Amino acid sequence: MGLAAGTLSASSCNDLFKTGPLFPTYADDLVLAEGLKYDILMKWGDSLGSRKFGFNPDYIAFLPQEDGTALMWANHEYPTPMFVSGLERNLENVKKEREVVGGSIIHVKKTDKWEVIKDSPYNRRIDANTKFTFAGGVKVAGTNDCVGTFGNCAGGVTPWGSILTCEENADQFMGDPDFKTRGTIPSTEFGWERFFPFPAEHYGWVVEIDPKTGVGKKQTGMGRFAHESATVTVARDGRCVVYSGDDRNDEHLYKFIADKPGTLDTGKLYVADFKKGKWISLQREDHKVLRKLFKNQLEILIYTRTAAKAVGATPLDRPEDIEIDERNKNVYVALSNNFGKGEYYGQILKVVEKGGDPLSLEMKGSYFAVGGEKSGWAAPDNLAFDNKGNLWMVTDMSSGLMGKKPYKKFGNNGLFKFSMSGPDAGQAVQMASAPIGAELTGLCFSQDYKTLFLSVQHPGEKSKSMKELDSHWPDGGNSVPKPAVVAISL
Ligand code: FEO
Ligand code: CA
Ligand code: CA
Ligand code: CA
Repeated sequence: MGLAAGTLSASSCNDLFKTGPLFPTYADDLVLAEGLKYDILMKWGDSLGSRKFGFNPDYIAFLPQEDGTALMWANHEYPTPMFVSGLERNLENVKKEREVVGGSIIHVKKTDKWEVIKDSPYNRRIDANTKFTFAGGVKVAGTNDCVGTFGNCAGGVTPWGSILTCEENADQFMGDPDFKTRGTIPSTEFGWERFFPFPAEHYGWVVEIDPKTGVGKKQTGMGRFAHESATVTVARDGRCVVYSGDDRNDEHLYKFIADKPGTLDTGKLYVADFKKGKWISLQREDHKVLRKLFKNQLEILIYTRTAAKAVGATPLDRPEDIEIDERNKNVYVALSNNFGKGEYYGQILKVVEKGGDPLSLEMKGSYFAVGGEKSGWAAPDNLAFDNKGNLWMVTDMSSGLMGKKPYKKFGNNGLFKFSMSGPDAGQAVQMASAPIGAELTGLCFSQDYKTLFLSVQHPGEKSKSMKELDSHWPDGGNSVPKPAVVAISL
């Protein structure tokens, strides 16, 4: 399985990439391939109605409106306490952190460039204090209501124009429900549960949000794990199929098949077994072992990882973003890395559903591309197709390891573009390089494909202190680094 890495031929390079590839750099800047330019759309702290744009943007969705404007969504994944609050875990700092996560809805229009419509009533913040319900009246830990969303990493858009935002590393904020003891394992990083003791079971879901009203519901049907993305496609009978990866070493790839068109409120969850080439049902009635382990279907959805392992799901190298090639319904999954197995560079996995049918329970997996020094990239994360069928990818080598083993040769994180056909299929050229410490993420095209929106997340996050900053992007001088959403003109 996998393609041999190689170098692009000069002729195809010219055909494909008029702007010419960029080479790895350690510059503290968003460096773009020749011919491209960027503007900052929103950065951390910019005014957004009565609130401010949040920290660490990730997933971006672009929803064109009839009047030529667009509603955009940006996830805000996590806070860096040194910048937004303080290292000490106390109520005041935790409150500040809870206000900068979640997501922003921004109403934008294009004049000579994309800009936010400052007084639009659609501009809104969703954060760790926003109230939600569980879809379909489901009660989790005894209640249908819950408070807050955070760890919002990648996501998706439904055909009816709602946003899916994925709660990835919720355990870092509020702890994790423990299948064995039915207690809660304390949070690994932010310690919020000591000040806001909400049930850990309320987090780790896919949240569906109406971008016009800001009203959201948590969807339990897609399971609870470190949801990276929720990528939607429509099957021939009109029902939605949603693919989602669990971004942790040796976790799994899932797909959810909705019961009816036009809603995700009920449906069935499956997990990938690549050895057998099958999607395995996670329905309690389908497996003796699930009936033995779990009292009801909701328990399976709360402890999805335990259920997936019990039915023989294939462990993967941290499945991150997922994109579907709508021409043939092939599914591309970024597998970031797996340090536990000495796999540092990652791969792009291609899943071909039998008959090109998202409803099929038979499929085949193979590697579309493999990272490494020869391929010139490592640790793939977000993906997006352009209107010519090229696949764009960003990388997420962890901020503490850039410029060090095993990533010494790769420079800062980057943006790459793959050819999907012809002799260079599966080979990538670099189109942008991130500021120091940052990952580029959330890549999303405008409807005319003339703009690529990107999140520049966590520049300078490994700075030793506010006096010894690694990055000053984007304002330069001695300024504090600010994560931002940029608009790249293509
Ligand atoms: Fe938030 Fe898996 O990246
Ligand atoms: Ca990610
Ligand atoms: Ca994507
Ligand atoms: Ca990542």
